Amino acid sequence: MKASRIHAFGGADALSCEEVPTPTIRDNEVLVRNRAAGVNPIDWKTCSGGGAAAFIGKLPFIPGWEFAGTVEMVGAGVEDYQIGDRVFGFIRFPEAAGCYAEYVAAPVAQIAHKPDELSFSQAGGLGLAGLTAWQALHDKGQLQAGQKVLVLAAAGGVGHLAVQLAKAAGAEVIGSASAANHEYLRGLGCDRLIDYKTQDLASEVQDADLVIDGIGGEVGISALSCLKPGGRLVTLPSVTADAVIRAAEADGKQALGIRVEPNGQQLAELARLCAEGKLQLTLAGELPLSEARQAHQQSAGGHVRGKLVLTIEES
Ligand SMILES: NC(=O)c1ccc[n+]([C@@H]2O[C@H](COP(=O)([O-])OP(=O)(O)OC[C@H]3O[C@@H](n4cnc5c(N)ncnc54)[C@H](OP(=O)(O)O)[C@@H]3O)[C@@H](O)[C@H]2O)c1
Repeated sequence: MKASRIHAFGGADALSCEEVPTPTIRDNEVLVRNRAAGVNPIDWKTCSGGGAAAFIGKLPFIPGWEFAGTVEMVGAGVEDYQIGDRVFGFIRFPEAAGCYAEYVAAPVAQIAHKPDELSFSQAGGLGLAGLTAWQALHDKGQLQAGQKVLVLAAAGGVGHLAVQLAKAAGAEVIGSASAANHEYLRGLGCDRLIDYKTQDLASEVQDADLVIDGIGGEVGISALSCLKPGGRLVTLPSVTADAVIRAAEADGKQALGIRVEPNGQQLAELARLCAEGKLQLTLAGELPLSEARQAHQQSAGGHVRGKLVLTIEES
């Protein structure tokens, strides 16, 4: 099968599209003919030697942790999936999952049935970002209806889903994004928008129950001032999480880091919200698998709206 992989850590140029062996499946796994693989910042961070590089084992490494496609083979013990089922998933993280490929071996506990409302490309971009948004809002953030949520990087992969999930949970949502994204984010349900290029977050908001910090570092630290007493901030970028948590502790505030975890039940919940029209995935672009380099460059630019996805044609 074709896959995009690296033989040494480096920039986007380290990726090359090659013929590799098709993966084999174990008990409780399915082999999926992949149609789309989502691109996330963790992909290029890991390819450059950061991110999840400590967990992926020996090189070569096929990046990608989320996908959507059609079940082609089922392993022993699989009851809920049959050949031909359309599925999506976020698998094996932080170990290597190999989703930038024509076939993916997926544990059934980490996949769900694809909602008809989403294309393969949209579903291929939902798993990692959708579960991050869900776990940040609900598992870490303990969000309650009626609370005020501030989402930093609201137009990004995680952010645009967090905005919709927070609205679906009955929250009031403030988004931070450049002005060019404000109309788009209003359409997704943001009640209020802040232009981070011209407005100071801390002077604009001081009463958030929950901040979802998709930026981290100094931006995350300054966003601690947006919390009301007793509020909490969930910071997404792992590399600066300790600094944000330390700053919060020094200031008597609560900040938490997160490492998104595969969870098939939560994926099914996301699929249900898609079917109910409460959640949609914006495609920033669809590129063929052979253009994974360009996708990494675009993602690393830091201004993607929604999700970038690599598409894999039916052969
Ligand atoms: N710990 C975990 O488990 C976990 C899981 C998922 C993601 N993450 C991390 O979370 C971060 C966000 O991920 P993502 O996939 O959402 O990233 P992304 O899609 O690349 O985010 C792009 C967005 O960031 C916005 N942006 C850039 N600078 C901004 C600023 N200063 N203030 C507000 N918005 C800004 C851009 O909006 P404009 O174009 O309007 O500037 C763009 O829409 C990444 O660092 C990622 O690695 C961590």
